[in-house]
Amino acid sequence: MTSLLEKLSAEVGKAFESLDLPEELGAVRVSDRPDLCQFQCNGAMAAAKQAKKNPREVAQGVVDALTQCHFEHGKAMEKSHVSDGDSSSQAPRNDVFKKIEIAGPGFINLDITDDYLAAHLSQNVDLADIGGGAGVIIDYGGANIAKAMHVGHLRAAVIGEAVKRMMKAAGYNALGDVHLGDWGTHLGMLIGDYIREGDVGLVLNTDPENPVQVETLMEDMSVRYPRASAAAKENEDLMREAQDTTVKLQNKEDPYYPVWEKISAVSEKGLKETYGLLNVEFEIWKGEACVHDLIAPMVDDLKAKNFTEESDGALIIPLAEESDKKEMPPLILYKRDGGVMYGTTDMATLVDRMRKNKPSKVIYVVDQRQSLHFEQVFRAAYKTGIVPESVELTHAGFGTMNGTDGKPFKTRAGGVMKLKDLLAMATDKARERMVEANLAEDMGEDEKEDVALKVAVAAIKFADLQNARQADYVFDLDRLTRFEGKTGPYLLYQAVRIKSLLRKAKEQDIQSGTLEDIVIEGGSRELALLLCELPEAFMLSVQNYAPHYLCDYVYRLASVFSSFYGNCHILSEEDETLRASRLALCKMTLAQIERVLDLLAIDIPERM
Ligand code: ARG
Repeated sequence: MTSLLEKLSAEVGKAFESLDLPEELGAVRVSDRPDLCQFQCNGAMAAAKQAKKNPREVAQGVVDALTQCHFEHGKAMEKSHVSDGDSSSQAPRNDVFKKIEIAGPGFINLDITDDYLAAHLSQNVDLADIGGGAGVIIDYGGANIAKAMHVGHLRAAVIGEAVKRMMKAAGYNALGDVHLGDWGTHLGMLIGDYIREGDVGLVLNTDPENPVQVETLMEDMSVRYPRASAAAKENEDLMREAQDTTVKLQNKEDPYYPVWEKISAVSEKGLKETYGLLNVEFEIWKGEACVHDLIAPMVDDLKAKNFTEESDGALIIPLAEESDKKEMPPLILYKRDGGVMYGTTDMATLVDRMRKNKPSKVIYVVDQRQSLHFEQVFRAAYKTGIVPESVELTHAGFGTMNGTDGKPFKTRAGGVMKLKDLLAMATDKARERMVEANLAEDMGEDEKEDVALKVAVAAIKFADLQNARQADYVFDLDRLTRFEGKTGPYLLYQAVRIKSLLRKAKEQDIQSGTLEDIVIEGGSRELALLLCELPEAFMLSVQNYAPHYLCDYVYRLASVFSSFYGNCHILSEEDETLRASRLALCKMTLAQIERVLDLLAIDIPERM
């Protein structure tokens, strides 16, 4: 199915073509002066430049062709048009455009007829399938086991889940990989602490199927790990011991490995629960440990193919190239002490993914500050042939979540805020806001709690997703939980309002029209036009791995709906045709808000 802009571009493109001008210059976009016209085409200027002609003359030719062309199609219809005096305009006699005008140096301003708009809406255009089933892996977890998840993992989870759902909707076979940090020195520190303190039994006796025991061990680890880590940082001997422990663990020695297995199983439970609260789910639940055994053969192979060099006792892959504008450090495979690095693991993970999943793209939704790391890994992967050039490797980096003081978000005491605590804080605030707005008053406690959690999650996620991915943003709990403005709660409120309207219509046995019956009128035109813009917003989001385009769209949709709701009678409309048409528009608006919020992994309550 073709979007409205694609159809209009094709119409205007044909006019360009008939004048021997490039068809693609007929591209039509939504007007940035909605007070003047609905759509515009700016291609006449570029065409004039190419053909060394006067742009207004070229524009006039296009306008003539458009008018003529449709007349020849025999779809002659008298349409009124407005002329602003300064611009030359013609009354097109066709069923697509109501107004075609030239403005300024050669802009072509366009309005479409209400009938054409209604006919387009009735086709209910779906999102484009551009993936054709191609495999994509999205690496967006990165939480570290045995540590509580913190807000740093929030952005990866929230953006990554949206990107994955968008890719699926675009026809890709997209799989999310949690890629846990489960094999590094932090585990050496923690396991070392259990052994030193004689507390190994505490871990080994925990049953991962028992939620209370899981909770207890998670709690214990969250106190023990920071203690062990701080101690190791202050004491060289302890640090060396932690590194030794890590090597023993990686060699799968007893009791290191069995302790790790338990820690890993328990952490998995805890992490799944926290990710679950955020509506985040991974198809692939693997970690760094999973690829450990692939490292040695990978390195042997790279050595045999002469991709590696010894440097100061370390084994590296040199990556610098003549054309580099900045310094490109080598990728270190083995440190001098034989330890493997972050990059080594990411390379081995690519070996694993290319063998098992054969993706056409691997997208890493990871903090922007790791960009050099990914540049190194990607260059090394292509250079060594681990990943063929035909496979796209992308680091879809994101900016930092700051507090209202402009610095990276911390607890009041200056510590790292745990994700669970952040959610609890937002849920408290959501409850407060619901009371202020007199919402959910008639609900029982359970439903009220469920709604508060949904409001909180929508608030946190939408505040995050609405920013350009690379931008830093300020996490202002006060603002983002409001029911007014560009917030998650505002969107939920508008969606629930439509749901309740549709429920009432059903109770009163008021029939909504089908999409074929939509009547475009003063009060609904803006909403109807906006409803046609979803495919473009979706495409921008998919192609740039950037959910904020969809966020902008759904927020505009909710606000325009709100004006429509305020200005037009719906259930109380006397004219049956208008009433049915307006109800059909309400349904379509709800369906789109639901679709977009589902892509963003934000749940909507039934009522509020
Ligand atoms: N565990 C890492 C961290 O907490 C993030 C991992 C990101 N993914 C990757 N493939 N390197 O910083």
